[in-house]
Amino acid sequence: MPRTATDDITQGLRQRPARISPKYFYDQHGSRLFEAITELPEYYPTRTENALMQRHAADIARAVGTGRTLIELGAGNCQKARALCRLVQPACFVGVDISADYLSEAVAGLQNDFPGLDARALGGDMTQGVELPPDIPRTGRLVFYPGSSIGNFDPPHALELLAHMRDMVDDDGGLLIGIDLPKEVAVLEAAYDDAAGVTAEFNRNVLRHVNRLIGSDFDLAQWQHRAFFNHEASRIEMHLEAIADADVRWPGGGRTFVQGERIHTENSYKYPLPVFTDMLERAGFKEAQAWTDERGWFAVVHARP
Ligand code: AVJ
Repeated sequence: MPRTATDDITQGLRQRPARISPKYFYDQHGSRLFEAITELPEYYPTRTENALMQRHAADIARAVGTGRTLIELGAGNCQKARALCRLVQPACFVGVDISADYLSEAVAGLQNDFPGLDARALGGDMTQGVELPPDIPRTGRLVFYPGSSIGNFDPPHALELLAHMRDMVDDDGGLLIGIDLPKEVAVLEAAYDDAAGVTAEFNRNVLRHVNRLIGSDFDLAQWQHRAFFNHEASRIEMHLEAIADADVRWPGGGRTFVQGERIHTENSYKYPLPVFTDMLERAGFKEAQAWTDERGWFAVVHARP
């Protein structure tokens, strides 16, 4: 794994096919665009998960318990944390997100709503391992990873990440995680290629962020959004496709893309629930309780060591 964002990005851009990690979607503007995505009629995951959490609030609260140390990975706007805090009244909250400024604002808002809560913001890339401040209690931790963000990782990396979450908690700890399940292709593809073009804008915005990070000169107008379901891998793939030949330069390098050539920007795996609970078990979470909606589109899973 390259150490700096610049190395990581330029290395990915030189690959064939080229790739950019989805973590670079989330600059301030990208985080706002993602928030807009969650409100789109086609994007069912957020509202399905929210409905599930509401519907099974009492069961989830009972399973999780009160007074815990809640650690949310990819906390974003902290809207989900707010709902969960109301439900399980944690003593301490740690929000982790790669978009540090966006996160600080959100955690400040959360702190305001829950004056008795010890709320912290931790800016950083959770894929590189989360280093929690030493005064965060070790016992009674609940790792919260909603939204099916685990879907961004291929099975070996997802397993690694789950094992890391297992290491974050003691034997009395737990994990509350959202999983997007396989479903009709038309539903999946519409969710990642909405009529209003918000997801297309979100996808292209990664180039604006990359331009800022590595000093490249991507012209966003030269790239179009592609999203489709890959059956073999059971994942949605997002790509940016060159509309015409594109010559891209950055300090110390560059690359020419021919018309139709793509940059792979995201995978969003759709794990069947049994496949996922098996991964949980291999990661050290031996007990799992799952709640799903009546359409079987999404699952919220509480797992314990
Ligand atoms: C934040 C990774 C859960 O995969 O559905 C939404 C990101 N990308 N639309 C997802 C995303 C395009 C989202 N996750």
